[in-house]
Amino acid sequence: MLKKREQWGSKIGFILAAAGSAIGLGNIWKFPYIAGENGGAAFVLVYLVFILLIGTPVLIAEILLGRETQRNSIGAFKQLASNKLWMIVGGMGILAGFVILSFYSIIGGWAVGYVVEAINGTFASFETPEASGDLFGQLIGNAKWVIGMHTIFFGLVMSLVYFGVKRGIEFGSKILMPLLFVILVILMIRGITLEGAEAGLNFMFKPDWSKITGDSILIALGHAFFTLSLGMGAMLTYGSYMPEDSDITIASLQIVFLDTLIAIMAGIAIFTAVFASGLVPGSGPGLIFQTLPIVFAEMPGGYIFGILFFLLLSIAAVTSAISLLEVVVAYFVDELNWSRKKAVFIFGGIIYLVGIPSGLSFNLLSDYTFNGLNFFDLADFLASNILLPLGGLLISIFVAWIWGFEKAIPALLKGATKMSHNNMVLMSWKFFLKFVAPVFIFIIFLHSIGLF
Ligand code: PHE
Repeated sequence: MLKKREQWGSKIGFILAAAGSAIGLGNIWKFPYIAGENGGAAFVLVYLVFILLIGTPVLIAEILLGRETQRNSIGAFKQLASNKLWMIVGGMGILAGFVILSFYSIIGGWAVGYVVEAINGTFASFETPEASGDLFGQLIGNAKWVIGMHTIFFGLVMSLVYFGVKRGIEFGSKILMPLLFVILVILMIRGITLEGAEAGLNFMFKPDWSKITGDSILIALGHAFFTLSLGMGAMLTYGSYMPEDSDITIASLQIVFLDTLIAIMAGIAIFTAVFASGLVPGSGPGLIFQTLPIVFAEMPGGYIFGILFFLLLSIAAVTSAISLLEVVVAYFVDELNWSRKKAVFIFGGIIYLVGIPSGLSFNLLSDYTFNGLNFFDLADFLASNILLPLGGLLISIFVAWIWGFEKAIPALLKGATKMSHNNMVLMSWKFFLKFVAPVFIFIIFLHSIGLF
């Protein structure tokens, strides 16, 4: 007998959980630091264009595949494709889930560790802005700290996935995401009112096109996928727990809007502070950890805001990490009939171990690099810039060209409101999914391997 599949508790439950997956370290930690490394505004614009032209149509397609089949990332292709090779797309997604979660948990661990620093009042003792960078360097240089925090973060993620879709995932998102939003608004206002903030705003909004290179275009594309949790079956899996009477198009637009809003707000909060404190925008993965504590050190109520911010950042990271692990777990539970508990412990355990070399890239293993990338960078590059866009390319080809719109459109319109029946809306989705997304991704790939 088939087990009854779990579903979200409510329509809003899906949106919150999917937004919880999308909004995470990608928006608050990664977006500002890669924008900083790639020259600011021009990169931000390219990223926004990719979100709109590629991310949104692929997001709709991915959620649709999940809802229609009610299966995991491999099972969905197994059900819809006559050629079983398509299951490889799902398999690649599971691989991407492994790789991303392994390094994601390292940064999630930093966030947790910073909650402790905030509670201890460490930030208030900074005498100069440099003190913040020194603290960061000292912490991530300490392998015990990094691995210890990775362990705590991972333990949290595993226990939430273990409790299952509804209790574990939906609950966290309902109250905490809005609170994160409020804190970001406060930080943004604080940032804008700092002396010297204008340089930060210019950096983020006044494009200097000479800064754009082939590499930065690939990074922007990869990030559009990363931030929307796309191209690896996470949204597909979450869509599979979605009831039939909900509108996928509207839900997708809401997710994209919230995710982008949070990234832009985080960017404003951080770049204003970076420039106001004389730091450099291109300082890499440590950017928010070095910048925001300086802001907290000087702002009224900074002690409380510091604790809240890093706490909410950790929670946002957890709600994203859960969706990464869920992709792996759903496959083993659905297709191989494993118990949830077994899948969580075995694969959680393996991914935890795979994460350790990423954590050690900042200390014990920092001398080991391949092509200038340490283990952490390599895992990020492979997953974000190769596996996710490739997954997105194949998903768009699959839905538009193989499964076909004759089947996809009626499936999409189940439970859809009037707005989503609108011809313009449907036509644009078809056009972007069929032509724009695959062609753009393909060209960017060719370009990045130096073919033209
Ligand atoms: N979207 C998440 C973030 O921005 C990361 C993520 C990527 C989650 C892929 C799931 C799948 O932090």
